Amino acid sequence: METKIFQKNEIKMAADTLRQNELVAFPTETVYGLGANATSEQAVKKVFAVKGRPTDNPLIVHVQNFEQVKNYVAQFHPLTPQIVERFWPGPLTLIFKTKPNAFPSVVSAGLSTVSFRMPNHPLTLALIEATGVPLVGPSANTSGRPSPTTSQHVYHDLQGKIAGILEGGATEIGVESTVLDLSDSHRAPMILRPGGVTKEELEAALGMDVLVDPHLVSESEAPKSPGMKYQHYAPSTKVLMIGPTDWEEALNWAQKQQLKVGLQASPEVVRRFQSQAQASYCYADNQVASATKGLFAGLRALDEADLDYIFVATYPETGLGTAYMNRLKKAANQKYFMNN
Ligand code: TXA
Ligand code: MG
Repeated sequence: METKIFQKNEIKMAADTLRQNELVAFPTETVYGLGANATSEQAVKKVFAVKGRPTDNPLIVHVQNFEQVKNYVAQFHPLTPQIVERFWPGPLTLIFKTKPNAFPSVVSAGLSTVSFRMPNHPLTLALIEATGVPLVGPSANTSGRPSPTTSQHVYHDLQGKIAGILEGGATEIGVESTVLDLSDSHRAPMILRPGGVTKEELEAALGMDVLVDPHLVSESEAPKSPGMKYQHYAPSTKVLMIGPTDWEEALNWAQKQQLKVGLQASPEVVRRFQSQAQASYCYADNQVASATKGLFAGLRALDEADLDYIFVATYPETGLGTAYMNRLKKAANQKYFMNN
């Protein structure tokens, strides 16, 4: 099949394609999603097939507004109105207990809960509205690859396998949404995946501590979010994490071993060390927001450069740095230069 690139004046055509239960990838503020009609079992099954996604990994249902969610949910956590008011539309996915048969069971991998998100992107919201049904939207990459932050990344992974891609330029945040479990009304909200909304922001808005899935703290715990157990986000080139004071030693080591390395770091680090590397991907500045925006794009670009290693800068694990480091550790298979 030919994968059509829909421009922003072609949203109606993209929506018609989705209504025919074909797949259309769409931009969001986090990463590109692989859209399909969430009410059609046939359409949702195609999503799993095209991505090569394990069927025990549930999908996020993308909605146009909170009203749409009310049709499907059995019971809301008491903090829901406060959370929705503050963070929707935005990079926060909320898990609720749903009514029986709210969606075909493939959507939630047979769980009694479903996750919902209202993306903060005018084109996506217009697309959901024009389609008239909620859309499932896993990241629009082949399973295991870094998530796509441009339409070109989607095209690279899925060309010929999906009907279309809605063009929306590069995504703003660069990593996926925070997944927050609100399915147990008697328990505080629990973060299952760190993302665009930080724990600090949630706690400030709610005036209370939120829980964090123990799996995110200790590797011996099984994740509550099925998707978090798979190795994700990995390029085929080996990735090593480099702490701020370890660049010199890491590059000396690489030179001695005659290894071809690519640098992925702030402009300061790249300027200082690029003469010792074969390739580099420079973040826009030294801020963690810029690093997060460039993380997957950098891994994809350097993966094309025929290298032995990609050396990627670490950032402190607070605020958005928690999401950045969560994705980077998976891409690096937990390997720091020092522990190598
Ligand atoms: O930012 C995002 O969230 C992007 C954009 C496109 O919206 N989407 C995305 O979807 O990252 P995906 O499918 O790649 O990741 C969804 C994550 C997985 O880790 C999945 O296991 C978890 O959410 N999840 C979905 N429904 C769940 C549920 N009912 N219970 C627990 N975890 C769930
Ligand atoms: Mg994904």
